[in-house]
Amino acid sequence: MSNHDAEIIDGNLDSSIVRSVQCLKNDQLIGLPTETVYGLAALASSQTAVRKIFEVKQRPTNHPLILHLAGFDELKRWAIEVPEYAKNLAAHFWPGPLTIILQRSKLVCDEITGGRNTVAIRVPNHPVALRLLSTLNDGLVAPSANRFGKVSPTSAHHVVADLGSEIAVVLDGGDCTVGIESTILDCTRAGIQILRAGAISKVEIEEIAKLHIVKSDGESRASGMLEKHYAPNCKVLVVDNSAQAISRQNELDKAGVQAVVLDYCEDVNFYAKQLYAELRQADSNDVEVVIAVLPTGNGLAEAIRDRLTKAAAASQP
Ligand code: TXA
Ligand code: MG
Repeated sequence: MSNHDAEIIDGNLDSSIVRSVQCLKNDQLIGLPTETVYGLAALASSQTAVRKIFEVKQRPTNHPLILHLAGFDELKRWAIEVPEYAKNLAAHFWPGPLTIILQRSKLVCDEITGGRNTVAIRVPNHPVALRLLSTLNDGLVAPSANRFGKVSPTSAHHVVADLGSEIAVVLDGGDCTVGIESTILDCTRAGIQILRAGAISKVEIEEIAKLHIVKSDGESRASGMLEKHYAPNCKVLVVDNSAQAISRQNELDKAGVQAVVLDYCEDVNFYAKQLYAELRQADSNDVEVVIAVLPTGNGLAEAIRDRLTKAAAASQP
């Protein structure tokens, strides 16, 4: 779109919030920090801007967007027939990395949902995003600010590297503290389903909802559920433990293939926070293979396994 790279502006400055509001009200897109990953944000009320998201990301229009709100109180404007347990979940986990799918209100345009009557909503737990949202008196729709199918950005620089020529500004809110996309929960069906694993685990959700979560039916309704997703350029190999990783690395080394090992299983919070940055780093270092050890356990560990397994599937010829 432009010959210039997007400008990174300090999210802690009042002037940056003012500038972002101006951009958004002019139907422009901005890079938005959240606690999970950076988003490519458009004003929810602007159909023109929402359409731009799909163009810039090269994303199929049948992959609907997440609506970000300033707080729990906004929910009643954007969703209808919200079940009691979903209200409890939102009240408990927001702001935070839980996206809830609900019946949409008339405020939600077709562009956001790809014509569905449901909408995905979350309140991000990031001071810069929250400040911007509370200034707007509107919602922000934001997918991860990367090209479709690629690795999500966890810093303002990642956004510029991917989409810098397509947007004017990226609000810098530092490195994302979670590092992996939100848990997505479908609350529009008889059984609640997790469509995408994230930092908020099944057990935590069941405890607050006081309901049993059914296993996802495997239907690809969230693009994160596609088998091939989250793909860097290098090949990703997944293994079960450190010993296997080292032996694979030695084999590859003998064959003259440059491979690095990703193994932070003793600290899944750190693993999640680093994951996408490391995959990007591997690409910029022209590493051919990343050998990643899969962490065990629920919650974030499950989310990391999900992303790594999909990145590995994308590496298959
Ligand atoms: O952590 C996150 O969720 C980040 C940050 C920026 O908030 N956003 C994010 O957005 O990961 P995106 O677009 O990359 O992933 C959103 C997922 C997609 O897989 C989409 O298909 C699914 O949410 N989704 C959105 N609305 C839906 C709906 N009504 N029904 C089913 N799936 C939906
Ligand atoms: Mg994404």
